[in-house]
Amino acid sequence: MPVEFVVCTQRGDTGKGRIVDHKLSSGRFRWNVRSKGGNNAGHTVKVGDQTIILHLIPSGVLHSNVQLGLGQGMVIDPFALFQEVDELKTHGIELEDRLWVSLGAKLVMPWDITLDVAMDKARAAAQGREVKTGGGIGTTCRGIGPAYAHAASRDSLTVAHLLDPEILRQRLKVVVPIINRELKAFDCPETSVSEALNRCAPLRHRLCKIARPLHLGLANSLEKGEWVLAEGAQGRFLSVDCGVSYPYCTSSVTTANGVFSGLGLPLKKEWLGPIVGIVKAYQTAVGNHPMPTLIGGEREEGIRQRGKEFGATTGRPRHCCWINALELRNGVWANGCTEIVVTKLDVLDEEPDIPIACALELDGHTIMELPDTAVEYFRCKPVYNSHVSPGWLTSIQQARRIGDLPANARDYLAVLERIADVPITGVSVGPERDQFCT
Ligand code: GDP
Ligand code: IMO
Ligand code: MG
Repeated sequence: MPVEFVVCTQRGDTGKGRIVDHKLSSGRFRWNVRSKGGNNAGHTVKVGDQTIILHLIPSGVLHSNVQLGLGQGMVIDPFALFQEVDELKTHGIELEDRLWVSLGAKLVMPWDITLDVAMDKARAAAQGREVKTGGGIGTTCRGIGPAYAHAASRDSLTVAHLLDPEILRQRLKVVVPIINRELKAFDCPETSVSEALNRCAPLRHRLCKIARPLHLGLANSLEKGEWVLAEGAQGRFLSVDCGVSYPYCTSSVTTANGVFSGLGLPLKKEWLGPIVGIVKAYQTAVGNHPMPTLIGGEREEGIRQRGKEFGATTGRPRHCCWINALELRNGVWANGCTEIVVTKLDVLDEEPDIPIACALELDGHTIMELPDTAVEYFRCKPVYNSHVSPGWLTSIQQARRIGDLPANARDYLAVLERIADVPITGVSVGPERDQFCT
């Protein structure tokens, strides 16, 4: 039996967390796992008065019968991990028995965070921008880029390294001098083996309880016919392999393609289940990105306020954009989505009309495919033409069936479905678990 995927077709923050929580309510899944990224993610689950924001731990925390896993493709800040575990404890959620942290996952170390901040300031300076935190790519400053860079250059520590004092000391002896060269190059304070050992040692006894061979646990379940829900982080246009976004992206492959490798599983055809792409009814981006369909002005502010579009990780205001058909099509295609779920349709309740860009204009030419570079994408202008849908100007938050939505809302969904070229199987109309139409 298969792995079902929940992945984002846009630039993150489409409501993956709430859709994962909704899907797990079916009782069908044994596992909920993350495979890529780190605590740059912020996934929100809201049930009644309780709002929980997950950064590293999968969004299925409220489903006590579901096993939770962090895959080997993730970069894990162990300090942030335990902070999140402790925070969840204050919500009455105990995780130690059901959380599996892959032994092969790479660690985000304090120096990765220092370098992340310093490097993004250096990027800002090199581009003649204001030299401030977030001035370059506008990263989340969680150390994600340097951690993945160190993983690729083989200067990382893994969860398994942290568990063995002798291996940890040996690794640090090799890694610290290299890291210090980088810190020095960016005028940051250097570190030492003893400082790193002192910081890591207290984590060992807690990590021992949750560090486990996740890939074996998953394979065992899959062989028995149990279902796994793989929760994507970030989104298609934040993927490091997305040419049109690069370098305004994160440092991992964020599409469905990255999931099996990120879980340490072989790509077995019989384990490949539905790929559910999440499409927010409009688009958002946090950080510095090319955004040809940026709404701007009071209308954008209205959507930002109604949709509470402020970063779940950094609190930054998210830029809000109309749907860009070229991105939607590409986001669904690149993930290999077999179906889509549209989220936050209710946020558009007060809009008199809803533009959709059906093409782009680049240097005086109409283009129907995304350009190859962000440099060109920054120069693109939207072509809205006839794809302006009339709004429905009524609250849809009480709807529970797609058929009960107002005709104009259904027409808007029909346009999205045509562009995506896969069926819409659900629509969310509010942040609560039950505010969902099928
Ligand atoms: P994720 O990163 O994809 O999990 O999404 P985030 O949690 O960062 O952002 C989604 C935000 O929208 C959260 O605040 C959710 O509570 C909220 N949300 C999700 N679905 C809906 C919906 O259908 N309507 C409204 N109004 N809010 C929603
Ligand atoms: P979820 O999983 C939205 C963005 C950052 C920045 C770029 C690089 O909640 O959808 P990084 O810290 O990863 O090096 O930042 O990627 N970014 C996200 N934007 N949602 C996310 O995650 C994001 N994770 C990273 O804002 O532009
Ligand atoms: Mg988010």
